[in-house]
Amino acid sequence: MKEELQKIKLEISAAISQVKDSVTLEQLKIKYLGRKDGKLTNVLKNLKDLSLDQKKDIGKLANEIKVDINSILAEAKKRVEKNEANNTDYFDVTLPGKKYPLGHLHPLTQIRLEVEEIFKSMGFEIHEGNEYVSEYYNFESLNIPKDHPARDMQDTFFVKDHPNMVMRAHTSAMQVKIMEKRKPPLKVIVPGRCFRNEATDASHEHTFHQIEGFVVGKNISIGNLVWTQKKLLSAIFKKDVKVRLRPGYFPFVEPGFELDCSCLICSGKGCSVCKHRGWVELIPCGMINPKVFEYAGYKKGEYTGFAFGMGWSRLAMMKYGINDIRLFMSGDLKFLEQF
Ligand code: FA5
Repeated sequence: MKEELQKIKLEISAAISQVKDSVTLEQLKIKYLGRKDGKLTNVLKNLKDLSLDQKKDIGKLANEIKVDINSILAEAKKRVEKNEANNTDYFDVTLPGKKYPLGHLHPLTQIRLEVEEIFKSMGFEIHEGNEYVSEYYNFESLNIPKDHPARDMQDTFFVKDHPNMVMRAHTSAMQVKIMEKRKPPLKVIVPGRCFRNEATDASHEHTFHQIEGFVVGKNISIGNLVWTQKKLLSAIFKKDVKVRLRPGYFPFVEPGFELDCSCLICSGKGCSVCKHRGWVELIPCGMINPKVFEYAGYKKGEYTGFAFGMGWSRLAMMKYGINDIRLFMSGDLKFLEQF
């Protein structure tokens, strides 16, 4: 019996040294010391059948072993509890949660949504359009043939192995594409990215944003054009903004205009954004050239219309007082978190 007791002691010591969690430790305790069927308990139960001398001798050893096992168990309990406290799998569900920073809409998206709402309230529909278009839609259909010098002003990115395809240089590339599919009356805006082979500076990016708009129908006039632009700008800036109309040349409008607004960064005094002119070119516009209607397949003389192509990045610069267009795409959180 003595040997059996020593064997149990060794067995339980070895098992306890391997234990890593308190559940297994408790199971071991029951296995060896459990009242009903514990291994050590069962041996101790047999003591009653021994002679008095044997009882004294073995009983003493059994008690010593029981005390030893209890102290080994107590040590092991401390060890596993400490481990469990350091274990990352274990967590206290009552602790307050971690706060994760929340993102928000990019300033360009904010202004796009605002502008879209204004146009929707005026009955315009919104088209997404394509960024990758044929040269035909970007140039030819807008009355800019291959050898036309206006192509230089809108030099864009041509796509390798895809002759005749370009990254659109302006959202005007969507005019004929949409007109081909839809018959007037049309009131459309196309907000989207445009691409140009540009030397970048405070007001020029190679990738920037425009919002194209056009209205086609019977008897659409310059009066409708001016009213729409005024309504738009006063809604965006929520104040009276000085604007001026200058003649402007774009082969796809006739007559063409440049609608400038007084620079809101420097209040018209002159800065790097307005190139020290006090005015920022905001909305080139004009009456749609009848040639464009021909490309769209409309009957000659049946419709008139106006179109405009607003620099949406520049609009955001004016609205929020941003002095460098390159900040929009910089991914700089110090800049973006201000909106
Ligand atoms: C055009 O792109 C014409 N499609 C606009 C138009 C539409 C005229 C309909 C008439 C009728 P322009 O190249 O000027 O025009 O560009 C229009 C606006 O886009 C500019 O006023 C400016 O605000 C913005 N823009 C042009 N190039 C850049 C650039 N590289 N970086 C940032 N904004 C630009």
